[in-house]
Parts: sequence; structure tokens; C-alpha cells
Amino acid sequence: MNNTLQFERMTIKSYGEIYDMWNSIQGIGVSDADSKEAIERYLERNPSSSFVCYEENKLIGTILCGHDGRRGYIHHTCVLPEYRGRNIGKTLVEKALEELKKEGINKCHLFVFYDNELGNGFWNNVGWEKRSDLLIYSKRI
Ligand SMILES: CC(C)(COP(=O)(O)OP(=O)(O)OC[C@H]1O[C@@H](n2cnc3c(N)ncnc32)[C@H](O)[C@@H]1OP(=O)(O)O)[C@@H](O)C(=O)NCCC(=O)NCCS
Repeated sequence: MNNTLQFERMTIKSYGEIYDMWNSIQGIGVSDADSKEAIERYLERNPSSSFVCYEENKLIGTILCGHDGRRGYIHHTCVLPEYRGRNIGKTLVEKALEELKKEGINKCHLFVFYDNELGNGFWNNVGWEKRSDLLIYSKRI
């Protein structure tokens, strides 16, 4: 039944429903970096590598992906619980990476909460390397 799925580039026009979906999903950390202004700026800088998935006009999956000229970064990969297990997450990732490649980016990173079992299981299964040689440092400025 995957031929009923519609994958589209993410645009700011759909921000409201995308934001509502992110807020509804366990494992997705929504922050001030997800304000409409911030996402609009992100999509202006990275117009082609973020995607949404619809089925029967209902938003069921997203991936936010971009690069800084050197490396790619993925955020907010999610699929509504009742639509999981149909390769939607994997397809979103493939589409995003395809676009990064076209833009000359050959490596991508992502962040997953330590205790997000679903997320960590997924990334392991779809061929990503878990780094044990790095820590994330952050600072509010
Ligand atoms: C992670 C998530 C996006 C996966 O979406 P999905 O559409 O169900 O995943 P897919 O159907 O594309 O799965 C692709 C492959 O990964 C496997 N997989 C998916 N979730 C898995 C898990 N938790 N543990 C192990 N394998 C998993 C699938 O079995 C499939 O394997 P196959 O190709 O061998 O059949 C979804 O579970 C989700 O939205 N989780 C909550 C949000 C989240 O934590 N996102 C990641 C944060 S960075």
C-alpha cells in the first residue's frame, strides 16, 4: 500500500501541521530552534533536502536535513506511530541523503537522545555508525 504515499519537499507553507506533528511525537525534542522564523531560515539556506510524507492528504512523516557547506545534519526524522514499519522513515532518509550528495556533501551527522530506543534501533538498522569517540558540547549565546 506504499503507492498511496506522497513524498514532497518540505516548505514553510506546511509549518503549522509539521510543528504540531513534531510536538506529538515522543523522541523528538522540540525547542526554540523550531520556531517558524528559525525553520523558515533553515529552509531558505537548505531548500532541497528536507521532506514530508503524506497519505490521503494527512501528514505522516518528516525529515529536516541540511548542510553547512562541509557536513550534512539530520533532525526530526519521524513517522506517526500508526504508519511505522512501512519503510517511510528509511525513504525519508534516502531522499535527504540523495540531495546532500547532489550538493557535494559526503558525510552526514545526526543527534539522538541517549534513551531513545526506537530512534537508536532505527539508525542502527539503516546502516548508521554510532560514534563512541565524540561528545556533544553546547552553549547558549
Ligand atoms: C524512527 C522512526 C522514524 C522509524 O520510522 P519507520 O517508518 O517505522 O521506519 P522504517 O519502516 O523505514 O524502518 C526501516 C528499517 O528499520 C527498521 N526499524 C525501524 N525502527 C526500528 C527500531 N526501533 N529498532 C530496530 N529496527 C527498526 C525496520 O524494521 C526497517 O528494517 P528493514 O528495512 O530491514 O525492514 C519512527 O519509529 C519514529 O518516528 N520514531 C519516533 C521519533 C524518533 O525517535 N525519531 C528518531 C529521532 S532522531
